[in-house]
Amino acid sequence: MAAEPTIPATRNVGVLVSGRGSNLRSLLDAQARGDLDANFAVVISNNTSADARAHAEEYGVPWVVIDHQVFTDRQAFEEELVGQLRAHEVSVVVLAGFMRVLGSTFLEAYGGLTLNIHPSLLPAFAGLDAQKQALAAGVRVSGCTVHLVDSGVDTGPIIDQSVVPVRNDDTVQTLSDRILAQEHRLLPRALGWVLDGRVTVHDQVVTLDA
Ligand code: GRF
Repeated sequence: MAAEPTIPATRNVGVLVSGRGSNLRSLLDAQARGDLDANFAVVISNNTSADARAHAEEYGVPWVVIDHQVFTDRQAFEEELVGQLRAHEVSVVVLAGFMRVLGSTFLEAYGGLTLNIHPSLLPAFAGLDAQKQALAAGVRVSGCTVHLVDSGVDTGPIIDQSVVPVRNDDTVQTLSDRILAQEHRLLPRALGWVLDGRVTVHDQVVTLDA
C-alpha cells in the first residue's frame, strides 16, 4: 500500500477525556508556553463529573459532555460525538484518557487523524490496567506510547514511545506516576508532529518527515 501522509486541514484540535485530565492539561500548558502550535477547539467528556473540566475552563476551551449512557447504541453516541467535533471544526482528535472504544462511525470521520496515549510500551499491555499488567509480567522497563487510532484496542501505527525503568519496590501508583511524567512530555510533541503534517504511515509503520 502507498504511503499515506497524515495532513490535517487545520490546526483545530478536539480532546476527548473521561477523568482527571492531566494529559489535557499538559497539552494546554504546552500551547500556552509556545511549545505547541495548536488551536484547542473543544474538550468533550463522556463523563458528567470529569475533573478535566477545570482545566478546559481555566483555559477557556469549550467543554461539552456527551454521556454515553443516554444513547441506545454505540453508533448513536458516535454520531453525536462526530457532530460536536464537526460543529467545532475539529481536524485532529486526541484521546487523552478517554475510556470508550470508538468504532466505525467515528473512524470514518476521524480515522487517521486521531491520537491516543497509552501507559505501556505497545504492543505490550494493551487495554485496562496497563501498569498493573507490566508489574505482573515482571518487565524491567515500561513506558508510554502515542499512536494513531484504528479499529483495535490500543492498536494503530505508533508515533512515539518513552521508556521508564520498573523498580523492584514499585507499586501500581509509583510506576504510574513515573510513566505519567513521560506521557506529559510525549503527547504534546507527537500532536505537534501530526499538526505539522510530518507523520506518514506506510504498512502500519510511521515515518516522521523532516
Ligand atoms: C493516562 O495514563 C493515559 O495514558 C491513559 O489514561 C490516563 C489518563 O490520565 N489512557 P489523565 O486523565 O490524562 O490524567
